[in-house]
Amino acid sequence: PFEKEIVDLISRMTIEEKVGQLTLSVSGVITGPTASAKSSEELKDDIRKGLVGGYFNGFGAEFTYELQKISLEESRLGIPLLFGGDVIHGFKTIFPIPLAEAASWDMDIIERSSRVAATEATAAGLNWNFAPMVDITRDARWGRIAEGAGEDALLGSKVTMARVKGFQGKDLSSPHTLAACTKHLAAYGAPDGGRDYNTVDMSDRLLREIYLPPYEAAVKAGSATFMTSFNELNGVPATGNTYLLKDLLRTEWGFDGMVVSDYNSIAEMINHGVAIDKAEAGVIALEAGTDMDMEGYVYLKELPRLVKEGKISEAKIDEAVKRVLRLKYNLGLFNNPYLYSDQKREKELLMCSEHLETALEMAKKSIVLLKNENQLLPLKSDIKSIAVIGPLADNKTELNGTWSFFGDLDDPVTVLEGLRNKIGPSTELLYAKGCEFYSDSKEHFQEAIATAKKADVVIMAIGESAVMNGEAASRSSIDLPGIQKDLVREIHKTGKPIVALVFSGRPLAISWMDENIPAILETWFLGTQTGNAISEVLFGDYNPSGKLPVSFPRNVGQVPIYYNYKQTGRLYDGDYDEPASQRIYLSKYRDVPNSPLYPFGHGLSYTEFEYSEIDLSKEIINMDEKLQIKVQVKNVGLYDGEEVVQLYVRDLVGSVTRPVKELKGFEKIHLAAGETKEVVFELSVEDLSFYRKDMTFGPEPGTFHVFIGTSSKEVKKATFELSESS
Ligand code: IFM
Repeated sequence: PFEKEIVDLISRMTIEEKVGQLTLSVSGVITGPTASAKSSEELKDDIRKGLVGGYFNGFGAEFTYELQKISLEESRLGIPLLFGGDVIHGFKTIFPIPLAEAASWDMDIIERSSRVAATEATAAGLNWNFAPMVDITRDARWGRIAEGAGEDALLGSKVTMARVKGFQGKDLSSPHTLAACTKHLAAYGAPDGGRDYNTVDMSDRLLREIYLPPYEAAVKAGSATFMTSFNELNGVPATGNTYLLKDLLRTEWGFDGMVVSDYNSIAEMINHGVAIDKAEAGVIALEAGTDMDMEGYVYLKELPRLVKEGKISEAKIDEAVKRVLRLKYNLGLFNNPYLYSDQKREKELLMCSEHLETALEMAKKSIVLLKNENQLLPLKSDIKSIAVIGPLADNKTELNGTWSFFGDLDDPVTVLEGLRNKIGPSTELLYAKGCEFYSDSKEHFQEAIATAKKADVVIMAIGESAVMNGEAASRSSIDLPGIQKDLVREIHKTGKPIVALVFSGRPLAISWMDENIPAILETWFLGTQTGNAISEVLFGDYNPSGKLPVSFPRNVGQVPIYYNYKQTGRLYDGDYDEPASQRIYLSKYRDVPNSPLYPFGHGLSYTEFEYSEIDLSKEIINMDEKLQIKVQVKNVGLYDGEEVVQLYVRDLVGSVTRPVKELKGFEKIHLAAGETKEVVFELSVEDLSFYRKDMTFGPEPGTFHVFIGTSSKEVKKATFELSESS
């Protein structure tokens, strides 16, 4: 709709003003090795000269208003600025980290959580969000696993769509919505060794089957922008990768929005060794389809000269400028540049009670009950005394988790505070920290042991600190950090019943705890409402319903580990109970089973769900038919609860090898105690399609298994045929 205005505006711009629109500067929290180190006065001067298209990670209605005013009133063309930011899991009201949100398998609440984040961020001046991060990963070492939706393409795609919808709403020009920036294109979650920014080398088949679907889902959901990734893919850095940015993103998926580089990733192509200098890096990036340069100043400094020297065409630059201006028009900024800088809204909306309510609901739904021996949980309301022990028991500053710098460190409710809010006067609450994250000192162990001995039940709040995950926070060990393992063992010796709350931004290897600790809750990092959500789950006010969006390995040596593995020619899938001689020359470890400690999709409830056998509408379907798959799920326990009913498929023989299971659908249902519900799934030929030997996407006739169950492991099975005929 704004094409005429855009063309007219571009016709009036100098080349410097054009590359200014392609320049994105950091102005607040620094999230990378900064190239500019500009003072705020210098930044303002750049605005006056029309040399900035937008700012990121600076915020606040007043601050953004001031900069916008300078751009409007003091620059020659008065083009409004973009204000971007990493609102990854909430703005002021902090929600659970995205990996935790994905564990809810509840798209409605995930969309609402993103809606709240957008409402708060837009009230504080932002109009562009560097989220969702949709990078699939199979590697718990990678620090940014915390920021995605885990290992599965289907779950990842659904979460992506919910988040894009939540951020952008129905109308991008509404004052409550902002532009999403889907990142990082592509395969950033598969670096060698799990080390952030490292090399990615992967077949096109694996890329398309597992890693690409969430990006494509983002295009379908209307994501206004995309961000490139830092990594190379098959020898070509993503920021200069024509295959990713043109062939896939624009041609195959039909994306017509704007693409921004990651922080200085244009210039980093020199380090990658594909450009001799910034000029060459700039040409490669622009030609490949990177429209905007984040904090690299390559376009600003190099492109005007390159145009004069005939090394790049001005028309190429105009294309990129058009996309930036189109985004500004779509956001409504040409209509009202101050739309997003509203001090009244900022005051009213940030951390308002409605947002805190949504955060509590999201946090409760994100918690995963990994183990609950002898129904230790839920705790009885008349319990006499509880000891809360561990470095995360009364610690506010870690609870917001990674990528939450707009939030205040003091805001989250600690576990201790949450319990205090919950328990009655007749329950005694004891506390001991026990140890630190970063010190090997055991000097506080005795105090913790003595505290545990006084209590009826011990709640251990243990795990990672916030900075142990996130960007550039890969770990070569995924054990409980520091001496926390020793602390748990010492407290275990007291013989007291223990509930472990595991705070982490990744799957941790907790085999010893699984063998010895009766109840374990994966609490991730839950944000503002941490303690309240955990207390409601501990006492059964909320029956946990989370399911793992990622496999939990037994030890780091199993990584990468994922449920949708291939059979191989020599898979060992026994239980190690035959003589060792009978399992030599099979694909296995000598020291640990192949299976994860907790499989993808695992998560217990205080109640129990019983699944009927699977009922198929047909045993043979043709290519143009759909298969209906029914199952009855009964709540056979004492509590009302929610269950995520999961549907998996296996194609037994193909022109290329197929995974042993692939998630094809899921439904989260609520069942009152004693209630039964029928869940019906439908599979079409599209769902059974894959990249065949010749890389065309389509189905192949043959036999399929279909599985329905409570996790990727605990399933019922049925068989059907897909016949050649249509
Ligand atoms: O949005 C982030 C990106 O995910 C990693 N590098 C920095 C960007 C801006 O903060």
